[in-house]
Amino acid sequence: MLKKNIGTIIVDEDNSPNPEQFSFVLTKTEEEFQLQKGMYVVVPTEDGDVLANVIELYKTNRYFSSPSAVRAYETSGKTLASIFPADRWEYIIAKAKPLGIITEIGIQRLLFPVSPGENVSIPDNKTLIKFLGLEKENGLNIGKIEQHDLTVRLNLTRFLQKHAAILAISGAGKSYAVSVFLEELLSRKADQGRVAIVLFDVHGEYKGFGDEKSPFFKDVNVFPGGLIQFATSSMSARQFAIYQPQITSAQSRDLSKILSQFYHDKVKQGKSYVIGDIIEELEKNEQMNTRSKEALIGWLYSLENTRLFGAAQNPDLRNILKPGKITIFDLSDFTSIKLKQMIVSYLLYRIFEMRKKNEVPPTTVILEEAHQFVPEARLELAISKSIIETIAREGRKFFTSLILVSQRPVKLSTTALSQCNTHVIMRILNPYDLDYIGRSSEGIDRSTMNSITSLGVGEAIIVGNAVNHPIFVKIRKRKTTTLETRTLEESAKNFEA
Ligand SMILES: Nc1ncnc2c1ncn2[C@@H]1O[C@H](COP(=O)(O)OP(=O)(O)OP(=O)(O)O)[C@@H](O)[C@H]1O
Ligand SMILES: [Mg+2]
Repeated sequence: MLKKNIGTIIVDEDNSPNPEQFSFVLTKTEEEFQLQKGMYVVVPTEDGDVLANVIELYKTNRYFSSPSAVRAYETSGKTLASIFPADRWEYIIAKAKPLGIITEIGIQRLLFPVSPGENVSIPDNKTLIKFLGLEKENGLNIGKIEQHDLTVRLNLTRFLQKHAAILAISGAGKSYAVSVFLEELLSRKADQGRVAIVLFDVHGEYKGFGDEKSPFFKDVNVFPGGLIQFATSSMSARQFAIYQPQITSAQSRDLSKILSQFYHDKVKQGKSYVIGDIIEELEKNEQMNTRSKEALIGWLYSLENTRLFGAAQNPDLRNILKPGKITIFDLSDFTSIKLKQMIVSYLLYRIFEMRKKNEVPPTTVILEEAHQFVPEARLELAISKSIIETIAREGRKFFTSLILVSQRPVKLSTTALSQCNTHVIMRILNPYDLDYIGRSSEGIDRSTMNSITSLGVGEAIIVGNAVNHPIFVKIRKRKTTTLETRTLEESAKNFEA
């Protein structure tokens, strides 16, 4: 291992080395080496290299440690530094928190203290990559750990086999980070392993990926929300009740009878049907309680009015879910949150069913404004909540992963969020959101939590399954510029005469 020796472990007055913390004095001058908070250091021991994180840095100088002496000198008209070589006695002490030890049998927790007098060095990037659980080449290049000039490449399986959440206040860089993930996913070659990607674009901000000028053009399918059609004949009474929760269980049973009759008379003969056919059949039915029947017809009419229910499904998911390809469902024209939830719900049901039967490749679904689709509050009836929570719980077994993006983590379903094993946390200020994240992120410690409020735009903390330890990443610049990344001046020019 290439090491840059920078300091020596000391016995601090109140803090002798222990398994949780140790201090060291920097033996390099500031010109020779600038140690920063958050950097990684390494201490060689007999059992292996101990990796640690610098959590505190302070300067000290024995000449200035006695307030009475400093005052006496300074009030006498002379400065301490003019009488004594005080500047030569200034030094920097760092406190570091051991993260683990690289032994012959792998990375383990440190159970014993490092020794005073041991050398402290800066680890080379190869060691850091191994220790942090990153990839050397094949991973998703999302940015850098700047202090070490280390490119962060996340392992695809570790990141996407389970689910992930991207959480931050508005403007912190969530959608930008999603675009970087997309560029990485779309750049992968077949032999590197690729997933099919589905993105629900509620603000129409990803359309640029499908622009003819985009280098990813041929792998991107932007599907206008207005063209989405549900196959009415594929829907059970229970599913109708999900879209129209007022439907009672008695009504649902009556509906079910008609649907199974249609299945025999129509579907089995290769024919399909629409909601109008169901309503017609209901109207003929004389056994049903009239009030109940009329109410059910009313619910079905309002579903028909959404114009989402047709004879056949559009798009055919079998044709668009392909490895290395992305389908962007552009929902920006819908103002009704209920309609958006219905679309997300329908498509996720289909995708998950098809994944269970292995009819489509492993799929990753990216959901912006996730708190609107899978809210925590019971009162906010969200049609898409149950399928998202189901995929959150069971998706892993069927390689169906979710990336939930939200600026209000506290409003996001606990069930869904707790199944997100990787959290990409960007700037967050709201104390309730912070507290919620602290409770739902595994392996996030106090000092990491404290730094969330001071993150800048484009800076992220990644914790959880994708990495061995929380890391601070500066998300890289996008390789592609699209409509959304144009400046205000450029956008305004289009409207000039
Ligand atoms: N990694 C980055 N590098 C450079 N600029 C960035 C980066 N991340 C974000 N930005 C800038 O910040 C702006 C806001 O980012 P973005 O749209 O991703 O925020 P957001 O978190 O998705 O906000 P909202 O919740 O409102 O959707 C971007 O348009 C871009 O100019
Ligand atoms: Mg956004």
